[in-house]
Amino acid sequence: MPLNVHIIGAGSYLPERVLTNHDIESMLDTTDEWIVARTGISQRHIVGKDQHTSDLAVWAARHALDDAGLKITDIDVILVATTTPDMIFPSTASIVQYKLGGEGFPTWDIQAVCSGFVYALAQMDGMMRAGMFRRALVIGAESMSRILDWNDRSTCVLFGDGAGAVVLEAREEEGGIIGSVIHSDGAHRHLLMAHHPHPGASPADDPLDFHVDSAGVAAVEMRGNEVFRMAVGKLGELVEEITGKHGIEQSEIDWLVPHQANFRIIQATAKKLKMPMDRVALTVSKHANTSAASVPLALDDLYREGKLKTGDLLLFEAFGAGFVWGANLVRWSRAC
Ligand code: ACO
Repeated sequence: MPLNVHIIGAGSYLPERVLTNHDIESMLDTTDEWIVARTGISQRHIVGKDQHTSDLAVWAARHALDDAGLKITDIDVILVATTTPDMIFPSTASIVQYKLGGEGFPTWDIQAVCSGFVYALAQMDGMMRAGMFRRALVIGAESMSRILDWNDRSTCVLFGDGAGAVVLEAREEEGGIIGSVIHSDGAHRHLLMAHHPHPGASPADDPLDFHVDSAGVAAVEMRGNEVFRMAVGKLGELVEEITGKHGIEQSEIDWLVPHQANFRIIQATAKKLKMPMDRVALTVSKHANTSAASVPLALDDLYREGKLKTGDLLLFEAFGAGFVWGANLVRWSRAC
């Protein structure tokens, strides 16, 4: 019997500190009205001093394991999608394994920026269908605040920190991850980038304090308008591609779980799918853009609100620097 890869648990974690648009008004020449009108973002969570990407990932993983009714010793592999690892090496996934009390099984990170979680699910689905692993922890985790220039109003208002995780299990029963499409085009790399390793990531700094003194050191640079146009175009093509590939009518999709970069980008994709906004997972207002963490955070939000029913068809999609973009179609296996 062929194997299918099911999501059997989900969880997430957000750092305690909340930075609202009004808080940023006191730091920079910006307004709550501008940020809300252009992006839909009202607030974001920010890591504290001594809090690393692996710490966020560990809490999200613990919640996902609890949800699945499993322990770390039941897991065969950990994959962490992140663009803000604790260090250049070792991988954040191996640090997460240690902090969770696991040992022996393989761990690695995947770097596909905002598309990291969608890429990770696609990769793990293929490996688990091939019989390499039975149970996996797949985590998206980011401390984006550590790579921002907090003096650059055009980028720092857009991002936040957090983590989301799922437990996957390969089973013979129908459902789970139906399929994925992933793409990349490095010709556009100059439109969105962070040049340097981020010095704020490893020292025990508060990211907000650190960047007041070190403006521009590790900063994200972006040509926002061009990124916006490309994201809307590619995400539109993507929904056609993945539904066509799997012979699914767009009207069959119950929930869109998009990368949370900008409300207007999400709205354009929902319009393309003719989906009402009340069938779209929306966390951009309270989380901002948490890069690889945004899809699993939005998924967990929907799940915790009790909105998902067993058998619902979900479309995850994301677009990020590179550019890299991708989508997964998932038949939800968990009960509410
Ligand atoms: N507050 C007030 N004014 C600002 C701010 C701010 N925070 N930031 C920029 N401005 C000003 C600019 O200086 C500019 O002023 P000017 O006309 O006097 O020169 C004006 O606002 C307009 O700037 P634009 O960049 O043209 O504004 P735009 O409408 O394109 O919105 C935004 C900018 C929100 C970044 C938008 O382009 C966008 O969302 N792009 C998508 C980028 C994105 O989401 N990237 C995340 C990673 S990739 C991904 O996840 C999809």
